[in-house]
Amino acid sequence: MRVAIAGSNGLACSIADAITTNTYHQIIILSRAPKPQLSARGWQVVVVNYDESHRQELAFKLAGVSVVVSVISSPPQITLIDAAAQAGVRRFAPAEFEGPAALRPQQDALDRGKRLALERLRYYYQTRGMEYTSFVCGILYERFAPGGMYASRIGLRSGIGAEGDYLVNISQRKAQIPYGTNGQPAIISLTSAEDVGKFVAAAISLPQWPPELRMSGDRMNVSRLVQIVETVRGAGFEKAHYNSQSMWSALQLAQSAQDIQQQLRVITLMATASGRFDFASPNLNSLVAVTPTRFQAWLQEAWRDR
Ligand SMILES: NC(=O)c1ccc[n+]([C@@H]2O[C@H](COP(=O)([O-])OP(=O)(O)OC[C@H]3O[C@@H](n4cnc5c(N)ncnc54)[C@H](OP(=O)(O)O)[C@@H]3O)[C@@H](O)[C@H]2O)c1
Repeated sequence: MRVAIAGSNGLACSIADAITTNTYHQIIILSRAPKPQLSARGWQVVVVNYDESHRQELAFKLAGVSVVVSVISSPPQITLIDAAAQAGVRRFAPAEFEGPAALRPQQDALDRGKRLALERLRYYYQTRGMEYTSFVCGILYERFAPGGMYASRIGLRSGIGAEGDYLVNISQRKAQIPYGTNGQPAIISLTSAEDVGKFVAAAISLPQWPPELRMSGDRMNVSRLVQIVETVRGAGFEKAHYNSQSMWSALQLAQSAQDIQQQLRVITLMATASGRFDFASPNLNSLVAVTPTRFQAWLQEAWRDR
């Protein structure tokens, strides 16, 4: 099958890498600009324009493509979905790659057009039979890498992808532990970007795509995660504990200081406490032969010699 990957960030590259290494599918990378480094890897890069006025041209470029995997946000992603439906693409995976959509609030500051994209995909499934699936992976391990997820070229526009922006600042030995309404530390599911790539590659030729394919490399509460980080770093961390009241206070403080980044950090902490990044039944794990790396082993490797 011919698979188009829309976007060229670290996650797109993990997916492209796994498809070309583990399957016989052909890939093209859709990007707004030439990407010589990706072309040098033997990957065909097709330069595209996601402006609505270029939708027809985009549809032509998707001719012969069976599957689109997108890591781009709306509104460009909406143009891409429309063009894919027009070109007769069989399957579309939108830029999800976090927690299950059903756990997101109606008014979601972290949405980045995800809700609209899923609505559009539901419409094309009903009217044209274009299958879609949300790849759900929980939190990416890369958030805990040296340099944060920016170092893997993920979340570059999120404003909160630097080391220490989420739960633990490993270099500074500081941790934040959000508690749910049940008074317990929040639980999260997690997967590495490399394993997300492997799961997506393996899922491409599944006989059917359900609306959601959930993968998980690990699942634990945040206290346990901090313990693992302490073990791997061989040092105790200073811990700040957050309940809903202290998170609201932190948000108000960030709002009054008009500190957008801090607001996003606190909103992500609140989302974590609400259980948004947790799921207990990773249906994709049992459908494909991928053995994901556990968090501790990944962290050990990521921080080796540092
Ligand atoms: N679970 C987690 O912990 C986690 C963390 C971060 C991200 N994610 C997920 O990963 C996916 C990618 O997120 P991201 O933040 O890494 O993506 P991003 O920074 O928005 O970039 C993704 C791609 O979008 C294209 N792009 C960037 N700016 C654009 C613009 N103005 N117009 C059109 N295209 C643009 C770029 O491709 P070209 O330059 O090649 O066109 C880029 O490679 C999302 O689904 C997100 O939810 C998950």
